[in-house]
Amino acid sequence: MKLIEFGFQKGINEVIGITFGEWINTAPLGIIVDNPESDRAKVRLYSNHTRKNIERTSRLWINIIHDPVIFAKASFEDLDESYFLNLDPPIIKGSLGWCKMDAKLRGGFADLRLLDAKIIEKEIRTVNRGFNAVIEALVHGTRFVSLKRDDLLVKVEYYLDIAEKCGGDREKRAVEIIREKLGLDV
Ligand SMILES: Cc1cc2nc3c(=O)[nH]c(=O)nc-3n(C[C@H](O)[C@H](O)[C@H](O)COP(=O)(O)O)c2cc1C
Repeated sequence: MKLIEFGFQKGINEVIGITFGEWINTAPLGIIVDNPESDRAKVRLYSNHTRKNIERTSRLWINIIHDPVIFAKASFEDLDESYFLNLDPPIIKGSLGWCKMDAKLRGGFADLRLLDAKIIEKEIRTVNRGFNAVIEALVHGTRFVSLKRDDLLVKVEYYLDIAEKCGGDREKRAVEIIREKLGLDV
């Protein structure tokens, strides 16, 4: 089983990470892949619930998904069960595939090994700047939540403008969620 079969590319792959603790924890994560022909990857983990759950369970579930609203919601809160099609394995509605990873913490990272995976749907789609901009806004927005640096909000606004201009309905909804969660003017 190779990562490339499930859409992973060399570089950083943005996915939704799901871990189990007292509740189902969902968070966007960047999976770092050096060799997509292998079953190995890693993820940098800050001090968050994902890290805590992995420390206890040594498991990371990954959903590959293209829905900006799911990325926006999972960045600031955990998705409740109504967002899931299935809990074992955990599959968020709209996911194109899932992976089960063995995850071992090593310093600021977790080493990942692909244990099981399934493609749910293969999707052809063009590149949309609006979707990409939502992801960028969220990266800076989640950093703002922990660091409270105003320069990060300037970047969030920059990317939200692009998301609004180039995105469709789901990107526009994601923009609303981001503004609401960060307390930005609508
Ligand atoms: C696109 C994107 C990628 C992210 N990648 C990571 C990552 O690789 N590692 C990490 O610790 N946080 C990452 N974050 C931030 C977490 O998703 C965010 O801090 C989240 O609230 C953590 O949730 P948790 O405490 O429930 O684990 C990323 C955020 C976004 C929007």
